[in-house]
Amino acid sequence: MKILDTRFVRGFVKMADDGFQQGWHERNGGNLSYRLTPVEVESIRPRLNAPGDWEPIGAHVPGLAGEFFLVTGSGKYFRNIVSDPEACLAIIELDETGENYRIRWGLVEGGRPTSELPAHLMNHEVKKRVTGGMHRVIYHAHTTNIIALTFVLPLSDEVFTRELWEMATECPVVFPDGVGVIGWMVPGGEEIAIATSKLMEKYDVVIWAHHGMFCSGENFDHTFGLMHTVEKSAEILCKVMAMTPNKLQTITADNLRDLAKGFHLELPERFLYDKFK
Ligand code: 13P
Ligand code: ZN
Repeated sequence: MKILDTRFVRGFVKMADDGFQQGWHERNGGNLSYRLTPVEVESIRPRLNAPGDWEPIGAHVPGLAGEFFLVTGSGKYFRNIVSDPEACLAIIELDETGENYRIRWGLVEGGRPTSELPAHLMNHEVKKRVTGGMHRVIYHAHTTNIIALTFVLPLSDEVFTRELWEMATECPVVFPDGVGVIGWMVPGGEEIAIATSKLMEKYDVVIWAHHGMFCSGENFDHTFGLMHTVEKSAEILCKVMAMTPNKLQTITADNLRDLAKGFHLELPERFLYDKFK
């Protein structure tokens, strides 16, 4: 089957374009990666390029040895993915040590995988382990309202989770584990990748202060939907804060506990702290 016609490439391209339409991908902002299933790898193997040279990943991911990923290229614009996927995307293969990759398809005009490859692959490695292989998508976007909130809220998991849950009843249902937050760091390296992947042990959402968000999920719909829900909640919070410092009413901690019962969720008590003490 032609690589461009496969379901996973089409789903990837659609998701990237959906993100661009949301305004989350100015210039080359953001990146996306997908871990192929063994069946998908076999279905495209005859159409892969002859192997090129191994290049260092910049991280150590032995848990992903030998796996194939579809990834966005560094410096490539999300707005161009839908019209020219072969120039903007690559399929890469990892070696048996999990320290090197080589390009097997795409980037036809040259280039290399996203500069956030260490963060993507370290997140994939953690999620593959903690979800028993279910999660396959890692998505990084420059979501405007979440970024705005990182200038005005304390950079704590508890505060961000509680404030976002409070803004829309669906939120605790969509991300019951909460969100992780890391303070400003230099992007594109192993250090920020390690900090992010540590938080991915317990969350599917990690916020990078003054930069954007990472989400993880089992397919394109779930991962995009998660990013969309968190960002929409942040947008509501920005609007409320722009209108008034004091809400007249809200979803209370006890409301959240009732929601947990009704929807059979476990909402950690550390997010349900008493705000008015
Ligand atoms: P890349 O173009 O290298 O993917 O970088 C974009 C980005 O958002 C870095 O955090
Ligand atoms: Zn970024």
